Amino acid sequence: MSEKVYNAFSFESTQPVNSVEWRSPSNIALIKYWGKNGNQIPMNASLSMTLKYSFTQTEVRWEPKRDSLPISFDFYLSKQKVGEAFEIRIAKLIEVMLVDFPKISDYHLTINSLNTFPHSAGIASSASGMSALALSLLSMAAQIYNRSYAYDEFLQLASHYARLGSGSACRSVYGPYAIWGQHAEQQSVDEFANPFDVHADFKKMYNSILVFNHEPKSTGSSEGHSLMGSHFYRHGRIEQAADNLNKMIHALKSGDFDVWQQVVENEALSLHGLMFSSAKPVILLNPESLAFLSEFMQFRKGKGLKAAFTIDAGPNIHLLYAKDDREAMQNFISDWITSRKAPINVIDDESGLGAKQLF
Ligand code: PMV
Repeated sequence: MSEKVYNAFSFESTQPVNSVEWRSPSNIALIKYWGKNGNQIPMNASLSMTLKYSFTQTEVRWEPKRDSLPISFDFYLSKQKVGEAFEIRIAKLIEVMLVDFPKISDYHLTINSLNTFPHSAGIASSASGMSALALSLLSMAAQIYNRSYAYDEFLQLASHYARLGSGSACRSVYGPYAIWGQHAEQQSVDEFANPFDVHADFKKMYNSILVFNHEPKSTGSSEGHSLMGSHFYRHGRIEQAADNLNKMIHALKSGDFDVWQQVVENEALSLHGLMFSSAKPVILLNPESLAFLSEFMQFRKGKGLKAAFTIDAGPNIHLLYAKDDREAMQNFISDWITSRKAPINVIDDESGLGAKQLF
C-alpha cells in the first residue's frame, strides 16, 4: 500500500495518509434513460453530453478499522456531515464493491466530497457524486489489492460500479458524450457506458441552466423509473427511444443541428409526457418553465440558431447551444432575466471531457 503526502486544494492536510481523489462531472441526457429492469438495467439506451464545470470532487481516505462493522465510513459534503439519505446510498455502493473487493471492509473510510454546483439546481448531483465515488473506491481497491488496470479497463469498471450507484452516473465517466444501454444498431451495452465520438461541430457545446426551482423534487428518479414498469406507453417509449437514438447518432456524427434540435426537444417533452401520463401522475414542470419555453421558441423562430432546450426530471431548463450562437443565446438569456420581475439563478456550463484523477 502506498503512503503519500496528501495536499489536495480542497481538503488541506499534510499528514501522510492513504488516499485517492477523483473529480467527476455531471451530465445531461439528450436521449433520456427513463425506466429500468432488475439491477439498474436501463429500459432503453441513452446518450448524454458531459458537463465541464459542474462536478463532484471526492476524496477517499482509508485506515485500518477498529470496529467489527462490515462497512465503516464517515461522509462529509463540503466538510459537513449530511443526512442519512446520502449515507444509505454511499453504503449501498460500498456494499456492491465489497462483493468484488472484500478487503475494503478491513478499513475505515473517510469520504470527503464537494460539489461545484448547488444541490437541487437542475444538475444531476447523483450522476457526478456516484461516479466520483465509484472511481475513488475503485482506485482504493486497486491500491489495497496491488492491482493495475489499463486506463480504459479501469474506466469501464468504474462506469459499471457507478451505474449500480445511480444509473446515469455511469455516463459521467466519459466525455464529451457517452452512450449507455443495449441497442440493436449500436455496440453499447447495459452494464456500463462507453464514450461516444461526434462530429467536430458538436465537440464543444454550451449549456445554460435556468434554475426555476431550488427545492428538492417532489418525486425522485427512482420512483419515476419504477412507474415505467407498468406504464401504458412502456412499449411505445422503448420504440421511440430507440428511434430517437438512431436519429441522434446520425445527427451527432454528421453535424446535423436541425435533427439534433428536434430530437433533443422531443426527448425532453416526452420524458415529462411520460411522467404526466403515468399511473401516479408526476408533474415537475411549473408554469414559469413552460412560459419560458414558449418565449424561447418564439425568439428562435426563423433565426436558424443551433440551439435547443432539454429538461431533466425537474422544472429547470437546460439551453444547449453551439459556439456560433453563444452571443445570441447569452443576450437572449440576459434580456429575459432583465425583463423578469424576480431574480433567477443561471448556471453556465459547457461540454467537458469526463472524469479525472487528482490523486
Ligand atoms: O440516474 P437516475 O436514476 O437519477 O436517472 C436519471 C434520469 C434522467 O435524468 C431523467 C434522465 C437521464 O438519462 O439522465
